[in-house]
Amino acid sequence: MLEWKWWCVSGINVASDPVDSLLDAVAGGKSIIVDRAVLHFAHMPDLVLHRDEEQKAVAQVLIPILKGSRPSNLLVYGKPGTGKTLVVRKVISQIQARAADSKFPIRLVYSNAKDETTLGGLLVSLGKQLGMDQKRLPVTGLAIGEVFKRILEEVDGRGLNVVFVIDEIDHLAQLVGRTGKDILYQLTSANMRLDRGTLTIVGISNNLSFKENLDPRVISRLADEEAVFTTYTTEQIKKILEGRVAAAFAPDAVEEPALNLCAALSGSEHGDARRAIDLLRIAGEIAERAGGGDGGGTDSQTVTVEHVREASKKMEEDKELTVLRSYPLHEKLLILAIMRSEASSTGEVYSHYKSLCRDAAAGPLTQRRVTQMLSEIELSGIISGRVASQGVHGRTKKHRLTVAPQTVKKAFAEDLTLQGLL
Ligand SMILES: Nc1ncnc2c1ncn2[C@@H]1O[C@H](COP(=O)(O)OP(=O)(O)OP(=O)(O)O)[C@@H](O)[C@H]1O
Ligand SMILES: [Mg+2]
Repeated sequence: MLEWKWWCVSGINVASDPVDSLLDAVAGGKSIIVDRAVLHFAHMPDLVLHRDEEQKAVAQVLIPILKGSRPSNLLVYGKPGTGKTLVVRKVISQIQARAADSKFPIRLVYSNAKDETTLGGLLVSLGKQLGMDQKRLPVTGLAIGEVFKRILEEVDGRGLNVVFVIDEIDHLAQLVGRTGKDILYQLTSANMRLDRGTLTIVGISNNLSFKENLDPRVISRLADEEAVFTTYTTEQIKKILEGRVAAAFAPDAVEEPALNLCAALSGSEHGDARRAIDLLRIAGEIAERAGGGDGGGTDSQTVTVEHVREASKKMEEDKELTVLRSYPLHEKLLILAIMRSEASSTGEVYSHYKSLCRDAAAGPLTQRRVTQMLSEIELSGIISGRVASQGVHGRTKKHRLTVAPQTVKKAFAEDLTLQGLL
């Protein structure tokens, strides 16, 4: 309050205030993005393009529920951003809409395993969506076996036909404790315990290696049927983006070459529609900021190729920062060791690492363990290892950083143990 008075009496020109300029730009209707929600990852577009076959495949597996018989369990998988969540949610909401006229009570419900911290939590979310109240299904205090029993009683008692979609089912392996293993098996084979009603499980995953972490009996029951989503081509991504551009941006706000670049950067390598939409949104935000009347901007009214390039760089850097920050101390020290000794052999990296350990007051790990860790870090793409010939001395692996040293410094700056080493 005091400061506010000071602003007034000191006669500062309010129009040059940075916050006011931003607010004025918004009020002046200069926004490039007119409907931000359309660019949110959870937005359900009216039109789902290039996924007719997949929609039919999922619908066909679930259709028996409308006739009162039990559908097979279904496992849907494919790379990130290939429309799995979108397609399954669309299909279940369409079947649910038809179910209103059905003679049998039908419920198609959806939960994301990533949003839950325990298997019990996931089951409670299923029960709640079936209409069970807090009294029948308290959030805490019940053993997981009891939660499961009560859900089955509910299904049986009301003769419900239930489809339970478990998105990001790969996270289940982490939720399953010792008792959970058995519950999961029972969940996928619940029908044997039901006199009335049915329970079908639809699992969605972008990570097939989860199959190794779950009981093979669960996997074989879950994968009664499988639907595979392939990655999108650049052309397909472009069409998907056009839909978003029309709904989210002001008319003519996205230049054609910028749109093409968004599609190309997300299509060729990844085929990932989420990445493409994120790129478009970030480019839009950068363009808005550039035209936000901050004095230094170019006053852009459109999203250009440069904005997309900058957005792509930002996304890449954000991804690298997340990976770097997630490493434990010794991995971080190793990355610093490589940063200090550009393109050096495992032995040289190891001696830099040992000296960093001394500075950080951490006991060094063995060279054998460090060699193993280097291979693991290499998998993330933060460092690369190239086998080089040393002539008569045989071959050695040279390690180098693939990200910018500034990115490493930025990522590790918050780590108190590393302060003074950067
Ligand atoms: N065919 C499509 N038409 C329109 N929008 C799409 C299409 N496919 C995907 N999208 C959009 O792209 C984003 C990612 O799609 P979705 O969340 O369904 O991917 P996913 O396969 O579930 O990915 P993940 O495995 O990472 O969860 C969403 O915003 C979605 O609306
Ligand atoms: Mg998904």
